[in-house]
Amino acid sequence: MRTPFYQYNLEILEDTLKEIKEWTATNPDWHVHYAIKANANPLLLKRINEYGLGIDCVSGGEIQAALDNGFPASSIVFAGVGKADWEIDLALRSGILCFNVESEAELDVIAERCMILGKTAHIALRVNPDVDAHTHANITTGKAENKFGIEIPMLLPIIRKAQQNPLFEFEGLHFHIGSQIMDMEPFRLLCRKVNELQNMLETNGIKLNSINVGGGLGVDYENPELNPVPDFKQYFSIFRDELKLRSGQQLHFELGRAIVAQCGRLVTKVLYVKQGTIKKFAIVDAGFTELIRPALYGAHHKIVNISSNGPLQRYDVVGPICESSDIFGKDEMLPEVHRGDFMALMTAGAYGETMSSGYNCRPLPPSEAGKF
Ligand code: LLP
Repeated sequence: MRTPFYQYNLEILEDTLKEIKEWTATNPDWHVHYAIKANANPLLLKRINEYGLGIDCVSGGEIQAALDNGFPASSIVFAGVGKADWEIDLALRSGILCFNVESEAELDVIAERCMILGKTAHIALRVNPDVDAHTHANITTGKAENKFGIEIPMLLPIIRKAQQNPLFEFEGLHFHIGSQIMDMEPFRLLCRKVNELQNMLETNGIKLNSINVGGGLGVDYENPELNPVPDFKQYFSIFRDELKLRSGQQLHFELGRAIVAQCGRLVTKVLYVKQGTIKKFAIVDAGFTELIRPALYGAHHKIVNISSNGPLQRYDVVGPICESSDIFGKDEMLPEVHRGDFMALMTAGAYGETMSSGYNCRPLPPSEAGKF
């Protein structure tokens, strides 16, 4: 396989899916929709589909990818602050489970598209719960200053509007507070917010068929071998214990990273070892074109030298892109690195391949199934 390439360990994926299945099998009102934005590789989608998960989409392209990979339209939820008309049309024509609507303006456009196409739509409103997820600023979404969702003071009239339109089936509310959340407290706060909101809505005569709490469960980037499967017990227990679901009410989750991050790694080859006056650089053939998370969020993926077991030495591991942010790690202690060694950037299954780009006219990375 030409480097750099993504390698997916489907056994890790299956272990993860089994764990999720254990939780959801005993709760028939719980539904996990895999957030396909994390990784849309057909190798993974096939397994995820086999385990009966639904899909969370944020674009027409994602809806098409889900359908092409055999997911039933009735398992698809569709969020996003900027849904284009053609994307709404595709969702309506395919008959998706639910639109997660992010503004009144969007609600009006969906109504218009329903009229034109002679369709009806299931609607949930995305609420901005103003809960701080305590994660990286670029991946927090549930605070009042974020662009996502409808703020609570503006919610009631929009719900009424959705309820009154015969083209709509009003289903309930949708939330998502952020991503890579390791401390469970924000999820507990979210549950409390949902409970309060539900009480308030009921006093106004509004009943919810479904509640969607989004995704956000984080993974261990520093010790992937110790924690290949995230702590679903801790996560799901919070919702089981804190959320006051009404009888018959459906609970939806939209997990992305927690499902696929640990099963993927980016394999790259060392092109050069360059000795500077203070630093030694290991220059690899992968760059932020293949894995942008370090450059974009200052994220760190554990780096492993697969080829060498020589004495540990200190390196900055950098890519070939003509930008100084193209760095995977500074002062990494690695077994002595040589030209031609294979290295792996671990925990790259989520938001790795899907965020790769063709900058510098580089080809998109290939992928294969493999064990590690
Ligand atoms: N639902 C909604 C509405 C979302 O916006 C997201 C992620 C998810 C679910 C899935 O979240 P997860 O379970 O994967 O945390 N590119 C960034 C992450 C961006 C997340 C965007 N939204 C990264 O590489 O860290």
